[in-house]
Amino acid sequence: MSDKIIIKKKIEKFNTVITVSGDKSISIRWVLFSSLANGISKAKNLLISEDVAAAINAIKKLGIKVKKTKNEFWIYGKGINGYKYKKNIVIDAKNSGTLGRLILGLLVNSTEKIKLIGDQSLSKRDFKRISDPLKKFGASIKLKNGKNLPAIINGSYNLEPIKYIENRGSAQCKTSVIFAGMRTLGKTTIKAKKSRNHTELLCKHLKLPIKIKNKISYDEITINKVKSIKNLNYNIPSDISSAAFFIVLTALSEKSRLIIKKVNINSSRIGVISILRKMGVKIIFRNIKVYKGERIADIFVESSNSLKAINCHPSLNSGAIDEFLVIFLVAAKAKGISYFKNLEELNQKESPRLNWGNKILKSMGIKTVVNKNSIKIFGNPGLKVNKKIIIKNYLKDHRVFMSSVIAALSFGGNWIIHDKNSIKTSFPKFLKIINQIKNND
Ligand code: S3P
Repeated sequence: MSDKIIIKKKIEKFNTVITVSGDKSISIRWVLFSSLANGISKAKNLLISEDVAAAINAIKKLGIKVKKTKNEFWIYGKGINGYKYKKNIVIDAKNSGTLGRLILGLLVNSTEKIKLIGDQSLSKRDFKRISDPLKKFGASIKLKNGKNLPAIINGSYNLEPIKYIENRGSAQCKTSVIFAGMRTLGKTTIKAKKSRNHTELLCKHLKLPIKIKNKISYDEITINKVKSIKNLNYNIPSDISSAAFFIVLTALSEKSRLIIKKVNINSSRIGVISILRKMGVKIIFRNIKVYKGERIADIFVESSNSLKAINCHPSLNSGAIDEFLVIFLVAAKAKGISYFKNLEELNQKESPRLNWGNKILKSMGIKTVVNKNSIKIFGNPGLKVNKKIIIKNYLKDHRVFMSSVIAALSFGGNWIIHDKNSIKTSFPKFLKIINQIKNND
C-alpha cells in the first residue's frame, strides 16, 4: 500500500460531532505510574498508538504484566520496587521523547545496565537535558556523543536528592526528575518553568509526597521518596493536541461547525485555544467537568471569516508547543502580520518543526521571515493555493503529516504528502476522522 496521500480538493462545509483519541501524555503517564502501583490498574480509552505501545513494551521488559481486554488495558503493578532488572535488556522508546525521557527517571535505581534506543528521529534529539540532572542523583548515564541515544543507564543504590532548575518549560524533563525524586531518600526540589502538569496532578491524586507552589511564570515542586502507590483506574480523556487539527480545519473552512467530545482542557494544555481565540476564532467549552484533577469539556468551534494576526506572547508557548504547525496555518489566513517568538523548543521536536512550519507556509505562497527561534507570518485572507506541493523527508514527524493534510483541505492545491504511516505514532484514527467529517458535508 502506498504510504502517501494525494489531496486535490478543499473540504466542503460540514457540521458534525467527533471524538478524537485518548490523550498521549496522560496515556504514557498512566502506563508508567501503573507499572509502579500495587495491584491491578485499569484504563479505558487508552490511546492505542505506537508511542503508547512502546511504553507498554518497556514496562513488559521490566517484568510487568499487561493485559488488553475488549475495552480496557490492565497493568499488574508489583509495587514501587517491582521491576525485574534482567541482564542486557534493551528498551526501545521508538519515536517517543516522552517515553524515552520519563523512563530514564524511573531507572535511576536500576540494578543492571539498561540500554535505551529510539528511532531515527528520537536518536537525533537531545538527551543531555535529562542525563545532566539524573546523573546528579547518582545514576550513571552514557549517551552517544554525550547527548544522544542510545543511552546506557546504570542505576545506583545511593541516590542523593537534588535541586533542579528546569528553564525550558519541558514537562518531560520536569517529570523525569519527579520520577527520580520519588526513588530518592530526602527532598528533591524543582523550580520549573510552566509546562503541562499531568504528572503533578497524578501525584496529588495518588496522594504521593509532593508539594507544589504555583508562581506566575514557574512552579516550585518538592518530592520525597515514595513508599507505595495505590492502583490507578483511569478513563483517559481525549487529546487536545489531536483535537487541534480539527479545530483549525473548522476555523479555516467555510460555514462549518464542529463539536469534539470529552477533550482534556487542562489549563497547561490549552495555549492553542487562547491563541486562536485572540485571532478571532469562536471556541466554546461545554459540559465542563473535573476528573482526577483534569478538566474535561466538549469543544464547540465554528468557521471564522475575519481572522486577525497575533503578536503571540511567549507565556502561551509551552501550553501550545505541539500545536504551532496548525496555528501557523491560521496565521496564513489572518489579516496582518503574526509574530511568534522564543520558539527555540520547536526545533527540538520529532523534526525541526519551526523550519517545517516555515517550509509549508512558503510552499503555499505565504511570505515569512524566520530565524532560529521566531517567525513572522504575513497573512493573506484571500489565500487560494493552486499549485503542486510535495511534503516529504520530514523524519516521519506525525504532526508535520497531519498539519499538511489540514493545509491541503483548508487552502486547496494539489498536495502529495508522504509517510502517512507517521500518524500511527500519536493518532492512528486521524484519516478516518477526516473521512467522517468529509461525509458529513
Ligand atoms: C510532553 C511534553 C512536551 C510535548 C510532548 C509531550 C509530555 O515536550 O512537546 O509532545 O507528555 O510531557 P517537552 O517536555 O519537551 O516540552
